[in-house]
Amino acid sequence: MAGSCRRREFALQGVHDLRLLVRVGNAPVSGPLAVTRSRPGRNDPCWCGSGLKYKRCHLDEDDRAGPGMAPPARRPLRPGLVSPRRTVPATIPRPEYAATGRPRTQSSDLRTPDQLERMRRACAAAARVLRITGEAVRVGVTTDRLDEIAHLEIARLGGYPSPLNYRGFPKSICTSVNEVICHGIPDSRPLEDGDLVNLDVTVFLDGMHGDCSATFLVGEVDAEGRRLVQVARECLGEGIGAVRPGQPIFEIGRAIEAHATRHGYGVVRSYCGHGIGETFHTSLQIPHHFDASSRRQMVPGMTFTIEPMITEGTWQDRLWDDGWTAVTDDGKRSAQFEHTILVTETGAEILTVEK
Ligand code: MF3
Ligand code: CO
Ligand code: CO
Repeated sequence: MAGSCRRREFALQGVHDLRLLVRVGNAPVSGPLAVTRSRPGRNDPCWCGSGLKYKRCHLDEDDRAGPGMAPPARRPLRPGLVSPRRTVPATIPRPEYAATGRPRTQSSDLRTPDQLERMRRACAAAARVLRITGEAVRVGVTTDRLDEIAHLEIARLGGYPSPLNYRGFPKSICTSVNEVICHGIPDSRPLEDGDLVNLDVTVFLDGMHGDCSATFLVGEVDAEGRRLVQVARECLGEGIGAVRPGQPIFEIGRAIEAHATRHGYGVVRSYCGHGIGETFHTSLQIPHHFDASSRRQMVPGMTFTIEPMITEGTWQDRLWDDGWTAVTDDGKRSAQFEHTILVTETGAEILTVEK
């Protein structure tokens, strides 16, 4: 704990330094910079705000880029203000944890035909809300506004936004910007040109949950960021392609990790896909890296999510003081895509698609 506090101080120091070194008039620190940034000493904190020593972080990359050619600085993300809790109309049925914050943990991973029918509706609703909310992504919109758009659309469809008060989560969707891996809390920060933002939408409808997410580009994103997002999208496809009854669950992570590694990217290990149905997260875990202990076989009728989080740098994560926001340990970006899928007799069916 002490170690992570110290890292946080370094990160703030880094922000301060950046302002001094690169801020030109009112030009945003995160935009492309026409000025040459002076470089930190080898043992000084890296300019990117990771808290790591420069030599352990961006020094090699900056050397390769040549003198005065270091990539433009991106301001580390910091928490904004979280708006008051939104309400759900009293007529809308709620999951078991809506009032208490405490979810049921026991539930089956196999769906009956009736459950599946209802789950298709929840999943189609989640896909629709994700699309509509994604269409509102642009420079200047706050993640709180995106939360409101999703919240209102979910209620209009007669659903409950599954994240709301799940283990105390304060908002209706997760919004994860740049170095945030997952579980970002929507707040007052306006999206900036060049940001990546993952919107993660889960809907409780007809007694079932449907869960999906996608990463969106805000304004002009650099080529490396676009490539990260594309490879993350492909990693979800690779994971879905590995779904087959009779095969062990570890095949999913094996396929994802192989694709990420091929592109020089990391795969987050602390957060997994999960069984989903009448409960938001069942005990079934779907690792996105190769984990030989996940030997359980896939069976037709199983429903779970696949939601790989793919990183530019290290796969290691840490948690903000809010207890939710998971960020990369090195401050580099992460991208994620998620679908809820059904194991069929021959492979996988994606449930989170619009009807
Ligand atoms: N939707 C996320 C997932 O993919 C979970 C969010 S948990 C919450 O599993 F509490 F943050 F909502
Ligand atoms: Co999700
Ligand atoms: Co999920």
